[in-house]
Amino acid sequence: MTEPTDTADSTARTDSNPTADRFTVTPYAVEGEIDYEKLLERFGADQLTDEQLGRFPDHPLLRRRTFYAGRDVDSYLEAVEAGDIHAIVTGRGPSGPMHLGHVLPLYLAKRFQEVTGATVYIPLSDDEKFLAKSQSFDAIGEHTRDNVRDILAVGFDPDKTRIVVDTADADVIYPIAVRLATHLTPATVEAVYGEQDTVGLEFYPAVQATHLLLPQLVSGRQPTLVPIAVDQDPHVRVCRDIAAKEALPVAKPGALLGRFLPSLEGPGKMSSSDDAPSIELTADPDTVAEAIRTHAYTGGRATLEEHREHGGDPTVDVPFQYLRFFFESDDAELERIAAEYRSGDLLSGELKEIAIDRITEFLDAHQRRRAALGDVATEIRPYRLTDEERQQALERAGVPSSLER
Ligand code: TRP
Repeated sequence: MTEPTDTADSTARTDSNPTADRFTVTPYAVEGEIDYEKLLERFGADQLTDEQLGRFPDHPLLRRRTFYAGRDVDSYLEAVEAGDIHAIVTGRGPSGPMHLGHVLPLYLAKRFQEVTGATVYIPLSDDEKFLAKSQSFDAIGEHTRDNVRDILAVGFDPDKTRIVVDTADADVIYPIAVRLATHLTPATVEAVYGEQDTVGLEFYPAVQATHLLLPQLVSGRQPTLVPIAVDQDPHVRVCRDIAAKEALPVAKPGALLGRFLPSLEGPGKMSSSDDAPSIELTADPDTVAEAIRTHAYTGGRATLEEHREHGGDPTVDVPFQYLRFFFESDDAELERIAAEYRSGDLLSGELKEIAIDRITEFLDAHQRRRAALGDVATEIRPYRLTDEERQQALERAGVPSSLER
């Protein structure tokens, strides 16, 4: 969903007892084998209960607990049930092409929009990625346009969706971020994210906090849920703290926290920043097949005889995990595949082919919608904030234009 950045060195520390837990998860560094339950204690978020899960729109990502925890999800669910307005914010750091892991929260958000009419905000933090990655503004701009194309291909409803790009929508983002930044001390930033290389990155959390409050600043107070990979939770925490300190007409945003799609080479998260290959959304069928056949870590046995006798382990098998996360939505079919793998009837190579087929089907549909889009600058227009919405947001945030008052 997101990737660790090159600033990992200075942030490669845990925010609690580093000797007890041998993993690091901050927005700028994800390392080690993540204990997802322990992480909740560390972050102070809550496991989703069965009762809460049952109240969300049905989706394999929730049903199978890939999105497994949250903050303040009840107020969101109550608004959904009461037919009151509610919003989703899920963003993208445009540091490169998007891969399979990045679309999970987007497709989840789309389902929520279809089922409950959620307003969806999708900010792109080109400023953050410019600061965190050693890439030119031009390169980040190219990724931004390319990523917007993928986001548009998901098929959001333009009447209920806003896409914002930090540098392109700075007229609204910047004044709000400045106001919020009054409550962001260097000590907080360093405690939550680790020491940053530049003052730009030290300021950035105020920008992401702005993203999370934007639906409410544009359209009024409403429960807002942020479905994201768990490494982004610190941004939600910081935003909640800041929102509590400002007399703004907003509720604290809630979070819906997801596990990382495993990288092809095994547990950990799928990342475009390290050596493990990742499957990009524009990958053609041969590339997908090649990547999975040659790189996917399997739960199969060393020899055919052993596999037939003892069976494979779907819980560590990456092709199976891809099916379970997202690409096989039918529970009965997924269970059948798992049972056959465990019994030894299904071989690792055969399981890989099933995963290749499903992923290829998904990508084919995504790529058709992507290819049908025209020029990004034109296609994005119906998704941009209107002048009125910009003005509303600035007024609600108490930072109307300095010149036009
Ligand atoms: N910082 C996120 C990343 O690196 C991208 C992002 C920007 C985001 N704004 C957001 C994610 C708001 C969720 C919500 O991937």
